[in-house]
Amino acid sequence: MNMVRTVRELRAAVARARSEGKRIGLVPTMGNLHSGHAALVTKAAQRVDFVVASIFVNPLQFGAGEDLDKYPRTFAADQETLVQAGCHLLFAPTVEEMYPDGMAGQTRVSVPQLSEGLCGASRPGHFEGVATVVSKLFNMVQPDLAIFGQKDFQQLAVIRALVHDLNLPIQIIGEPTVRAEDGLALSSRNGYLSAEQRAIAPALYRSLSQIGAAIEQGERDYPALLAEQSRVLQAAGFRPDYLEIRHALTLRPATGEDRDLVILAAAYLGATRLIDNLHVNLDA
Ligand code: PAF
Repeated sequence: MNMVRTVRELRAAVARARSEGKRIGLVPTMGNLHSGHAALVTKAAQRVDFVVASIFVNPLQFGAGEDLDKYPRTFAADQETLVQAGCHLLFAPTVEEMYPDGMAGQTRVSVPQLSEGLCGASRPGHFEGVATVVSKLFNMVQPDLAIFGQKDFQQLAVIRALVHDLNLPIQIIGEPTVRAEDGLALSSRNGYLSAEQRAIAPALYRSLSQIGAAIEQGERDYPALLAEQSRVLQAAGFRPDYLEIRHALTLRPATGEDRDLVILAAAYLGATRLIDNLHVNLDA
């Protein structure tokens, strides 16, 4: 695996691969890679000839008071993970390389509606930061396909929308969430949890699963289902941020007639905000 730090080197390496007739895949990350990220790279390596991964902790998508400074940075281990997973090129730019003129005047990409509500409500500007950096990476690499985890369900919807709306010729693939044996979705932020909080954390996915099972059994009183599991989460020690049932494609609040649903949750354990979701397609 080669590693480059500048856009110029990145473009040159990708151009070489393209001139050899290779199809290009991109896996954008913020580093601190776990087996969920490795699965994205492995998937890309199965689909294309040349896999580019990026590691960039993007300041533009963090709000004031969020965890930008303490976000875990584990660069040496990440490189090893990428090599094992089959990555060909790592792009690891500095903030100055990505935003040479600073961030205040940076052109932004915003995806209205899909970015509102859910994580967008508690993290104002977050999805604009994500859409902007992902658009920049897409323009730098010009990949044939790009792969993202379904754990960030709203983020994936935002990225699909920007690719569609800006007519980018990039196939977007969403990969299933990788979970620990006890059901907890793998996330870089799990590392913030104390041993006691880590023991509580799987309750989030258990609540999603309870709601999903009830819906599959015909329950359509969504407010009651959500209120009950919200109570369960609070009793377990969580402070729920949101727990919602939405239409899986549009992310609008689900009605009893919808068949393609996603149950989404964000909840705090102490200062750590965990997110997770469960896709329930009643026609599948
Ligand atoms: O999901 C992430 O790790 C980030 O939001 C992404 C897509 C790499 C953009 O910074």
